[in-house]
Parts: sequence; structure tokens; C-alpha cells
Amino acid sequence: PDRYAVFGHPIKHSQSPRIHALFAAQTGQDLVYAAEDVPPERFESRVREFFGSGGRGLNCTVPLKELAWRLADSRSDRAERAGAVNTLALRDDGSVFGDNTDGIGLLRDLRDNLGLDLAGAKVLVLGAGGATRGILAPLLAERPARLVIANRTIATAETLAAEFGDLGPVEGCGFADLAGHRFDLILNATAASLSGELPPLPADALAPGGSCYDLAYAFEPTPFVRWGREKQASVSTDGIGMLVEQAAEAFLLWRGVRPETRPVIETLEAERR
Ligand code: ATR
Repeated sequence: PDRYAVFGHPIKHSQSPRIHALFAAQTGQDLVYAAEDVPPERFESRVREFFGSGGRGLNCTVPLKELAWRLADSRSDRAERAGAVNTLALRDDGSVFGDNTDGIGLLRDLRDNLGLDLAGAKVLVLGAGGATRGILAPLLAERPARLVIANRTIATAETLAAEFGDLGPVEGCGFADLAGHRFDLILNATAASLSGELPPLPADALAPGGSCYDLAYAFEPTPFVRWGREKQASVSTDGIGMLVEQAAEAFLLWRGVRPETRPVIETLEAERR
């Protein structure tokens, strides 16, 4: 079988091996997919070793996506713009191609799975780190009326907004500046969920009928997902759908076949009930 893997640090709770095993079974592809804890200082040598010994493709997750971007010999336009790579593929000529499937994965989940329409919507993105950088271009391509990036460190949000300003109406600010503003969709792209914290959102930030989406995923609902439910969000969910969708896009790049995502999302969701 062809060999694939996800590298991250930590990697213990990764669902990617499960997801790709389900995809492989569904599409009849002969492959194995492992998870490996790779700290940043060993990333480059481990990638070279993996591809040098017959490995075909890699996913890279936190905190390795910027390193993967730098390592790639060539990159897709969407990876170029995101400044981060979550998918590496070995080319026939031995070079390494870098792609970023996070943004398209998020959009497929928001649009196709959850039925949310971003056109004309007021969108709030919490956080201004790598996760936000990866989703701004695809979000702006949906033509929201406004896209606000709120971050603890205001300067980072402003810098990101300036960098993506050519793609649409994007502004950066701090959490306190959100007072009095309401949003149809709030996306949590901070690392707060990982430590069980809620970003400091004003209580009335969600417009009536609005939705909440946490890019993180966890076995239990995150504090942000619970916040959305308390505020009567029409949809308040974590990023399990995005995780499966970004994986499907990587699988397509590697194998030339698009797996069906819905049964896989349903399998993973059933395990959490
Ligand atoms: P990632 O690549 O996952 O986005 P990152 O680049 O370290 O990770 O960015 C983490 C983001 O989460 C940042 O926007 C960070 O805010 P700062 O830029 O001010 O550090 C944000 N963040 C982390 N913990 C947070 C918390 N408890 N509340 C709010 N924001 C938090």
C-alpha cells in the first residue's frame, strides 16, 4: 500500500488516520495513513526521510504549517496566499508540492453541509493566527458585506486585514471594539478552545438567527459552541465537518478520487453522542 501520514506536535488526538482509513475503504484505494509526533526542530529532516523512503503524501498540522510552506518546492495559489501548507505531495520528478485545503474545507462545510450563505453577511473572525490566515481568502471570495477580524493583540488583526484588503471589505480590531456590532456568522479561529477558554466576546455580538462555528474540534462541545447555543444561534458547531472536508480535498490531490464526506462526518459525530 502507498504510505501517507499526518505530522503535528502534539498529534495524540488526531482524527486524520481514522478519516483517511474511512476514505480509503469507501473508494477502494490501497493506502495506509499514520499519525506521527514531529516537533518543529525535526520537521524538515523527518519530511525528507519520509519521502525518501517511499512516502507519498503528508498532512501537516499545528505548529508545522508555516514550516511546510517553506519546505515545499512549489505551491498551489491558495497555499501561496494562505502562507501555510497543510498538505504535501511527492511529485513524479521527486519535488514536493504544497497545498492548503483548510479554506476550501471550511467553505464546503459552511456552504454545502450546513447551508449557510455568506454573500452579504456580516462575518466576524476571532483570532489572527495561522488558522485565520488560511481562511480569509476563501471567506472573502463568498462576498460578505463585511469581515471583521478581532484579536487580543490588535496589531496582528490590523496587519492581516491590510494584507487581505485587496480581496474584500476586511477590518481588524480588538475584542472591546466589537461593542455595539452584530454579526450573522462568528468563526472562532483562536487557540482558546484548546485550553477550554472562551474568547472575550460581547454578549450581544451574534445577530438574531446568526450562526457560530469553531474551527477547533473536541469530543465535548467547546466553550464557544456552548456560547452560541446559549445565544440561540441557528447553527453552533465545531470544526469536525471542516476537518473531514479538508481531508477529502487532500485525498483528492493525492489519489485523484473525491471521497464522500457525509457518511464519514456522520460516523465521527455518532461517536460523540
Ligand atoms: P493558529 O495557528 O492555531 O491560529 P496561533 O498562530 O498561535 O495559532 O494563533 C493563536 C490565536 O489565538 C491568536 O490570534 C491568539 O491571540 P494573540 O495574537 O493575541 O496571541 C489567539 N488566542 C490564543 N488564546 C486565546 C484566548 N484564551 N483568548 C483569545 N484569543 C486567544
